[in-house]
Formats: sequence, C-alpha cells, structure tokens
Amino acid sequence: MSRKVIGIVMNGVTGRMGYRQHLVRSILAIREQGGLPLPDGRTLWPEPILVGRNEAKLRALAERHDLAHWTTSLDEALAHPLAEIYFDSQVTQAREPALKAAIAAGKHVYTEKPTAETLDSALELARLAREAGVANGAVQDKLFLPGLLKLKRLVDGGFFGRILSVRGEFGYWVFEGDWQPAQRPSWNYRAEDGGGMILDMFPHWRYVLDNLIAPVRSVYAHTATHLPQRHDERGRPYDATADDAAYGIFELEGGITAQINSSWAVRVDRDELVEFQVDGTEGSAVAGLRNCRVQHRATTPKPVWNPDLPVTEPFRHQWQAVPDNDEFDNGFKVQWELFLRHVTTGSPYHWDLLEGAKGVQLAELGLRSAREGRRLDVPALEL
Ligand SMILES: NC(=O)c1ccc[n+]([C@@H]2O[C@H](COP(=O)([O-])OP(=O)(O)OC[C@H]3O[C@@H](n4cnc5c(N)ncnc54)[C@H](O)[C@@H]3O)[C@@H](O)[C@H]2O)c1
Repeated sequence: MSRKVIGIVMNGVTGRMGYRQHLVRSILAIREQGGLPLPDGRTLWPEPILVGRNEAKLRALAERHDLAHWTTSLDEALAHPLAEIYFDSQVTQAREPALKAAIAAGKHVYTEKPTAETLDSALELARLAREAGVANGAVQDKLFLPGLLKLKRLVDGGFFGRILSVRGEFGYWVFEGDWQPAQRPSWNYRAEDGGGMILDMFPHWRYVLDNLIAPVRSVYAHTATHLPQRHDERGRPYDATADDAAYGIFELEGGITAQINSSWAVRVDRDELVEFQVDGTEGSAVAGLRNCRVQHRATTPKPVWNPDLPVTEPFRHQWQAVPDNDEFDNGFKVQWELFLRHVTTGSPYHWDLLEGAKGVQLAELGLRSAREGRRLDVPALEL
C-alpha cells in the first residue's frame, strides 16, 4: 500500500504543549499506529520538521525521537521540500508573525490557541489564510475529550429538556515558585508577555459553550491577580502583572446563563481540574475531562433548607455515571487527524482560524469588561 508523506513544520516543540501533546501524543502517535489511513487506500505519513530557537534542545529532541529534520531557521523550515503544513505552539506573542510567514509561503496552517493576542490580528490571520486558499485550523482540544463528548451526546440526545444554566469550575493551585517550582511557565503570569487567565482560558470557554451548549451573546468578567509576586524558572522573583483568576458570566442564545470560574489560585475540591454542571428542565449533568455523571428529573431529591439539621442525604452519591460506550483517543490527536484528512482529502473541517478568532474576541471582551466593570455584547464575526 502506498504512503503519502506530508511534512509538518512544528514550531514550539520544546514547550510544554508542543512537545507532549502535539509531537509525542499526536504526530509521533500517528506514526506509531502506522500512519493515517486515507479513503483512497493510501496511508498518510506525517514527517515533522522541527523548528525553534535553541539548537541544542532541538538536536537533543530530534535524536531522542529519531527525527531527521530540524532547523533554527523558520524560513529554512518553510522552504523544506516536504513542508506542506505549518504548526505553531510557541508562546502566544510569537505566533502572529510566524503564521503570517507560513501563509505567505503557501503552507496550510494549524495553531494552538489563542490564535493571536488581539481580535484584529486574529481576524487578519483568518482573512490572509482564506485569501491564500490554504487550509487552516485552531486547536480546540476540549471538544474531543471523553467527558465533553459524553456531554455532547447528552445534549444531542435531548437529555436536558430546556437547558437553563451552565456552571464551570476550572483551576488548581499553581505554585508560586519559591519553595516549590511552579508547574506552569512564568510568562503565563506576565501581561506584557501575553500571559493571563482570560487570554488563556476564555478561548476554550468560547468554543466549549458555542459548540456544546449555545452561542455566547454577552460577557461580564471580573478578574483578580491574587498572587502579585511569583518566582520564575530560575527562582528569581517577578511581578505577576496578569490576571491569575477570572470570574465570568456569559449569556448564551436562548436565555441560557453560563458562569465559569477560572483560577490558578484555588485548591481542588472536585473530581477533575475542570467540571461543567449543566442544569436543564429534564435533568442535569456534571462533565469533566474524562467523566460525566447525570441526575434525571425522576431521581432528583427534594432537600428542605434547615440549618438546624445535619445534611440529610448523600447528594454526591445520587448521580449516575454516563458509560463510555466508545473508545476515546487523545483529544489533540483526534483533532490532528481531522485536520490532516481535511488537508489531504478536502473533508469538512469546522475548527478554523475564524472559529479561533471567536475565542480571541471573547478574551478581548472579557478583559475590557473587567476593566470597565460592565457587561458587553459579543457581536457576530465576519471576515
Ligand atoms: N490547548 C491547550 O489546552 C493549551 C494548554 C496550554 C497552553 N496552550 C497554548 O500553547 C502555547 C504554548 O504554551 P506552553 O504552555 O507550551 O508554553 P511553553 O513556555 O512551555 O512553550 C513555549 C514554546 O515557545 C517557544 N518560544 C518562541 N518564542 C519564545 C519567546 N519569545 N519566549 C519564550 N518562548 C518562546 C519556546 O521555545 C517553547 O518551545 C500558548 O499559546 C498557550 O496558550 C494551549
């Protein structure tokens, strides 16, 4: 059976997301499974062309995984004879010029979120990609996670009746970096380096709400920098200038209210690092990254408020697990496979740079809402 090789310029693979989720768990995992079967009987074989700033790190990474192609020059990578796709998981600030160079070189582009730092830039990138006629995509990994796929199954099956509200709780304690190293890169906590909770997480909340529940129509956000001093990768103290928590209220089409707390200064008392509770007239569900549990109208308890009595019922035991009924692969890999098939066969692909721009729009409006202390409409986007 013949094999079609497709070169993917991968920029940012020395980083957390680029290495673990995109290179190892997606592209190399596709190679480990023998490539990606195409409808015409051929197999697609992704060939990474690593690009980055640090020669020593890139060389070590390429050697570790037996990869032949790597360079510290983006131009050289884009000019590689195999290169058809450019992928970006650099720090957010470095993304826009690199994506523009890739589009100008006629490459298909796929990128981590947020696709840019401002809505104008995100829209410009979407426009440039459309004008150049290249395939384009933005990572929306949460949509491909087992817990949220089960939630979507419930929505599609009409489990909820009329959906009333969504409450999301995201976060965990990110160490300050003094007596225990921080488990996230320090740029995340500096606004001047493209950091901040809203810019990081509102792009996720936009596509989760839009795609699973209903389109977002307005936003009110309150932000905080709970920990104004942190210590960086080298143990040096720095001022945390970005928001490390965002408390958002979103109005969705159809009068649904969504409220999502996002914080890197919260200790976890949940089953998973993010959970969404959806309440509807017929039933409710709590979905995390992996699991989802439900409570139907018919099995809903009838508590009566009485602070004089101890809790009368085991509320958390009154929910029922939604079964897998399927085999779930890594969410990043699933989306990569969809994008690779889109590029090679023209199959439909919904999660493009315009969808990515919607996430940047919500982040930008969220930050403005927090600054101005008011609710803002989220207008429809057009290219
Ligand atoms: N989809 C998700 O769930 C998810 C989760 C975390 C991060 N992200 C996104 O992925 C991107 C990378 O995040 P990360 O956590 O992997 O970051 P990271 O700091 O671990 O990696 C950043 C990468 O960018 C490179 N880089 C290029 N220019 C740089 C510069 N000027 N300064 C510092 N690094 C530079 C680094 O060498 C490294 O390879 C961000 O845009 C972030 O928003 C997405």
